[in-house]
Amino acid sequence: LGKTIEYIASTESTQIIAHQLAQTGVSHGTAVLAEEQTAGRGRMARKWDSAYGKGIWMSIILRPDIPVQRAPQFTLIAAVAVVRAIEEVTGLRPDIKWPNDILVNGKKCTGILTELQSDADGIQALIIGIGLNANQEADDFSEEVRNIATSLKMETGKHVSRQELVRSILFYLEQYTEIYIKEGFGVLKLMWESYSTTIGKKVRARMARETLEGIAEGITDDGVLQLRTADGKLHGIYSADIEMEK
Ligand code: BTN
Repeated sequence: LGKTIEYIASTESTQIIAHQLAQTGVSHGTAVLAEEQTAGRGRMARKWDSAYGKGIWMSIILRPDIPVQRAPQFTLIAAVAVVRAIEEVTGLRPDIKWPNDILVNGKKCTGILTELQSDADGIQALIIGIGLNANQEADDFSEEVRNIATSLKMETGKHVSRQELVRSILFYLEQYTEIYIKEGFGVLKLMWESYSTTIGKKVRARMARETLEGIAEGITDDGVLQLRTADGKLHGIYSADIEMEK
């Protein structure tokens, strides 16, 4: 992965560029990196702070030959790859909060947004957007997220190399994609679970239409969160905001 890297100083969102490139037929593994995004986007139509030179704002185009329903697994695989890279480069021990938030000491340092181009033949491109807060100070973050966000520099007290992180993320994502294609999701799911802070906890899942409280028992092979409510029912959660009890 990352044999072709499209590097841009400033753009609205690397996701937009990656979508355009994917339509022109660029190859599997092409990555788009920007120093700054003026309209970085997060999950659920939120915005993503992407200050110039402070973080990794990257979108990776993958072309896996898998059915559309299995696409969410790639978000989970990408989260494991990023955690491994952060461990390797900084020595920190991040956790994953379902589905895709990477936390250090309970605060979010990375978000992952997976988007899809598909048609009747299946997935044309999977666009994995990774936003990693590397070298921000607290006041680089907007007020809305200052209490819940962190950067690797804030956690280690040291400047971190974005180049080493990008190299490491691409290395692990490539390795895990190969494992996935050869052996399926099994081992990677175990890895995801070993980093997850969500599983086994009492959580509140806020969804568009309802909020459910219960114990997060695990994820299915499709990456769906299994939530057991007090009445004993098991609910499959596809997309939600999760609050956890400590
Ligand atoms: C989230 O946690 O809500 C996901 C955040 C994803 C942010 C990244 S930064 C690179 C790529 N370009 C975007 O506009 N968003 C993703």
